[in-house]
Amino acid sequence: PSSITADPLVGAIDQGTSSTRFLVFNARTAEVVSQHQVEIRQRFPKEGWVEEDPKEILQSVYDCMERTCEKLTQLGTDISNIKAIGVSNQRETTVVWDKETGEPLYNAIVWLDLRTQSTVEKLIEKTPDKNKNYLKDKTGLPISTYFSAVKLRWLIDNVEEVADAVHTGCAVFGTVDTWLIWCLTGGKNGGVHCTDVTNASRTMLFNIHTMEWDLELCKYFDIPHQILPEVRSSSEIYGYMKGGSLAGVPISGCLGDQSAALVGQMCFKDGQTKNTYGTGCFMIQNTGVKPVMSDHGLLTTIAYKLGKDKPAYYALEGSVAIAGAAVRWLKDNLGIIKSSSDIEKLATAAGTSYGCYFVPAFSGLYAPYWEPSARGIICGLTQFTNKSHLAFAALEAVCFQTREVLDAMNQDSGVPLTKLQVDGGMTANKLLMQLQADILCIPVVRPTMSETTALGAAVAAGLAEGVCVWTLHPHGLTSVTAEKYQPQINKEESEFRYTRWKKAVKKAMNWETHEQV
Ligand code: G3P
Repeated sequence: PSSITADPLVGAIDQGTSSTRFLVFNARTAEVVSQHQVEIRQRFPKEGWVEEDPKEILQSVYDCMERTCEKLTQLGTDISNIKAIGVSNQRETTVVWDKETGEPLYNAIVWLDLRTQSTVEKLIEKTPDKNKNYLKDKTGLPISTYFSAVKLRWLIDNVEEVADAVHTGCAVFGTVDTWLIWCLTGGKNGGVHCTDVTNASRTMLFNIHTMEWDLELCKYFDIPHQILPEVRSSSEIYGYMKGGSLAGVPISGCLGDQSAALVGQMCFKDGQTKNTYGTGCFMIQNTGVKPVMSDHGLLTTIAYKLGKDKPAYYALEGSVAIAGAAVRWLKDNLGIIKSSSDIEKLATAAGTSYGCYFVPAFSGLYAPYWEPSARGIICGLTQFTNKSHLAFAALEAVCFQTREVLDAMNQDSGVPLTKLQVDGGMTANKLLMQLQADILCIPVVRPTMSETTALGAAVAAGLAEGVCVWTLHPHGLTSVTAEKYQPQINKEESEFRYTRWKKAVKKAMNWETHEQV
């Protein structure tokens, strides 16, 4: 259509844990015009360790951009209509590189990685009252393996190249957004070393009230302040693309992927909540311009700050480490499905887990427990149990974990949610969506356009001062069509299953104790 070629376009990089995508949106209609996706290889060099190659991540971004541009050209669209690029990224994943050579000094340590478990236990041990929430007032976060500070500390302590480069002043740190923006804007030849407030709020080095790196926190983790990137808003021009088909285009949006999904779902009002099903599963509730501290195991985090002079919005977050990753595990480690989408058919064949419960605590348990020593468990097996039941139990696990964080959110806010807005790759699974409605006992609403993470990054980039091509008022997007799943089982049955899940979680939590007995 002619409108495609004439309208301004905005590109969005969605760099997730499992894959990278580049999508191009029409800035007037928010339609996806073209896209490309590449899977990312995860490495598990030791039990509990999870790494990715920063150069492979960067290359995947270049590949996705170039392929998308080729597709656009084939469609007859002038790629010079792309006026801005936004970045959304897997959060917390930690990269250290040499700013003189441009080379990473170690693999990226992925957010799921557990190598810092003993460091975390020691840090908690040393706090008054052995309190994992010791730093929560400043950071909104419990001391956990999840966040960047402990990963960065590990790199400085254990990788000679990193320690040397820190000593000589050549080392720089970044989460994946920072690494990408630095490389895309020129790398060792003048690349911009920055991050946005949402990503900074996941490092444990950022004070979410003053909106600055916190020198006391840097001291606490013994991290040299000068290796940290400059913190900017989520929507402003950070720099310009150097090289490639999009050379010269401003990079003007940056949001951690879960924040991007909140923006993409247009949750701009107090209390609006979304749940994104990716590698993990993350429920985020907009709490407005004041941070709300959770009493029920949720994180307080920065939702977005859409412009230098705009206020920062805060959110409560229920983070679940393993959602899609459980399905990938059934595929890669057990080989019971060939592709992730096969799980729906396999689980539907059983239609029940037949009393089998699967707690995929591969990286300990995150919200609301924050228990790094928990480990995965499958229980309730009989000789009757087969792979269909296990597939069903894996999907139920995603739903039960979501129920746990929803309960925490309802308790914190005092206003129970009456529906759940969802998005992310797994929401294409209709069985999962139905199970989710059944287990939450409220309707689950899925927008037909499920690329909300990329859309959020595109909105931030297109709205930025000096770009201003996103003329569509964000609230105008709520007209997108949605599918609704209504609960189909009664509350008693739902509660019965949830109670058994809780029993299984107890076993996963006490795993080490059980071993000693
Ligand atoms: O905090 C980790 C999160 O940002 C990862 O998101 O989509 O890769 O599961 P995802």
